[in-house]
Amino acid sequence: MIIDVPELSLVALVGISGSGKSTFARKHWKPTQVLSSDFFRGLVADDENDQSASGDAFEVLHYVAGKRLAAGRLTVVDATNLQSHARAGLVKVAREHDVLPVAIVLDVPESLAWERTQDREDRTFGRQVLTRMHRDLRRSLGQLAKEGFRKIHVLRGVDEIAAAEIRYEKLF
Ligand code: GTP
Ligand code: MG
Repeated sequence: MIIDVPELSLVALVGISGSGKSTFARKHWKPTQVLSSDFFRGLVADDENDQSASGDAFEVLHYVAGKRLAAGRLTVVDATNLQSHARAGLVKVAREHDVLPVAIVLDVPESLAWERTQDREDRTFGRQVLTRMHRDLRRSLGQLAKEGFRKIHVLRGVDEIAAAEIRYEKLF
């Protein structure tokens, strides 16, 4: 499956914890192209899992995204991006720099994500948290277009995720 992405865009990965966003990002982009919420929580709070640091972390993430887009550099945001207000911040940064916001949704079964989560030492939340995320994801699917995402790619299941290839579109 080919995923068309404008050469200069702000790509928001969207998916529940354990859906494989960070793995997908490592596969397709250079580490410096990917801004992850974990990294920025670590940067501002010494703890990638400190959810109370999310406000500051996203403020800095948006700032760095803006600097990258101003310099014409494709930028990928590796965060769950399951809430409309979280995505609004990304659409805003993209618009401020005349760049297209693109969403790539990794839609895997909640049961698979839960299996993966139980094997991870860096994730300790309970099943109900994942269930809530999954509900937010379902709701998000209907909201992305009206929020301003200009391209929305939904990868359904592990096979589509594994087969995805990014193709860059020249804008001019
Ligand atoms: P959060 O950062 O918690 O939101 O999760 P994430 O969406 O970034 O998931 P991540 O890429 O960290 O993957 C979660 C776990 O699933 C890791 O242990 C990965 O190694 C594993 N995983 C991710 N993608 C795949 C895949 O395509 N195949 C297999 N076998 N494992 C995968
Ligand atoms: Mg991750």
